[in-house]
Amino acid sequence: MDKLLIEGGHRLQGEARMSGAKNAALPILCAALLSREPLTLTNVPQLNDIGTMLKLLSQMGVAVQQDGSTVTLDASGLNNPVAPYEMVKTMRASILVLGPLVARCGEARVSLPGGCAIGARPVDQHIKGLASMGADVSVEHGYVVARTTRLRGARLFTDMVTVTGTENLMMAATLAEGETVIENAAREPEIVDLANCLVSMGARISGAGSDVIRIQGVDRLHGATHRIMPDRIETGTYLCAAAATGGEIRLTGTSAAYLDAVVDKLMDAGCDIRTEKSPSFEAIVLRAPERLKAVSIRTSPYPAFPTDMQAQFMAINTVADGTAVIRETIFENRFMHAVELARLGADIRIDGNTAVVQGVAQLDGATVMATDLRASAGLIIAGLVANGETLIERIYHLDRGYEHIEQKLTALGATVRRVS
Ligand code: UD1
Repeated sequence: MDKLLIEGGHRLQGEARMSGAKNAALPILCAALLSREPLTLTNVPQLNDIGTMLKLLSQMGVAVQQDGSTVTLDASGLNNPVAPYEMVKTMRASILVLGPLVARCGEARVSLPGGCAIGARPVDQHIKGLASMGADVSVEHGYVVARTTRLRGARLFTDMVTVTGTENLMMAATLAEGETVIENAAREPEIVDLANCLVSMGARISGAGSDVIRIQGVDRLHGATHRIMPDRIETGTYLCAAAATGGEIRLTGTSAAYLDAVVDKLMDAGCDIRTEKSPSFEAIVLRAPERLKAVSIRTSPYPAFPTDMQAQFMAINTVADGTAVIRETIFENRFMHAVELARLGADIRIDGNTAVVQGVAQLDGATVMATDLRASAGLIIAGLVANGETLIERIYHLDRGYEHIEQKLTALGATVRRVS
């Protein structure tokens, strides 16, 4: 199993290009199921999660053509509306095929994802929404089984803000009869990107990006070409890595537009951040102070501070000046990186969903274990600032969500090597 060996103590400096967003690409790949005509996507990141989704779609009868970051999906031969447990268990986002399959085929059998390292993560809201749209939904032998002749538009209210839940129901509603209104919808930029793609396929959607989304169902969707938005979490991760090492970096292929909460906190920590903008180009430039000030955060649905950046901010706080309080309100078990950071000498106390991080003068390299995707990112940041060598085990988590991470970090001056 691959591990990552980091020699700490090098300032990150230079330029890196950010990739397309994993969390936008995954639902948008599933949108291809809604049409008999090809959907071409550009700026698709090459990641293990994307590979898993493409495999799942081809197993359903979707023809997939991939040329670097361009992917064309042709679902005219869709014949097997099933997502088996073996695939869903490796990637929870597989549940995103459920809405499109029911809408297009009138049936779907999708394995329940089960829990994952960061929490129970049920999909009851996805099921409840489809049932409200007239699908006959049951759970049989660990599978969500849904059937309908045609979905009917409905007024949907989700009990909590759910990103993939909103995406699943929005996709399902595009082919339903009549109007669907999703209230308490998630407002993440990835939902807007999905809505933009669906609209270019002929869907009638308004309100994406607000907490009420209206969808007028149409009889069919057509082919389209769509560019996946930049990855705001990858961008935030590199900003944190530069901030923690006292570095100075310029990130291209990305946008600060979706990063307000993260940029604000990095500025509170003492970083100087500016954007370079022209109609066709945007870059983010960060210059960090020698030592960061501690910054407290509280995770919440967009536009508040993202849970997917919590581990990275815990990492930068371990060596900051002062004490930070970190509250995780989205997932119940998302502090597993704290014990690993402690192995590097971090001073972190956990009480329920709150972590209190007392900055220390220096971390010392050690062997640590990655427990989930964003935890891995937090450990890398800590490894970059620690004295000596840090060996991160189980980096397969990292390969699910960070494209070419060693190359990008190396180009920025880090000493990072994959070892098996
Ligand atoms: C998505 C992101 C993930 C991010 C998360 C929160 C993708 C592919 N993944 O995950 O990176 O960390 O949003 O920003 O976009 N919940 C229920 N019932 C449901 C659905 C959700 O109880 O039917 C709960 C979850 O357990 C969690 C909370 O709602 O506590 C939010 O989860 P949700 O927004 O659905 O996360 P994902 O869409 O799975």
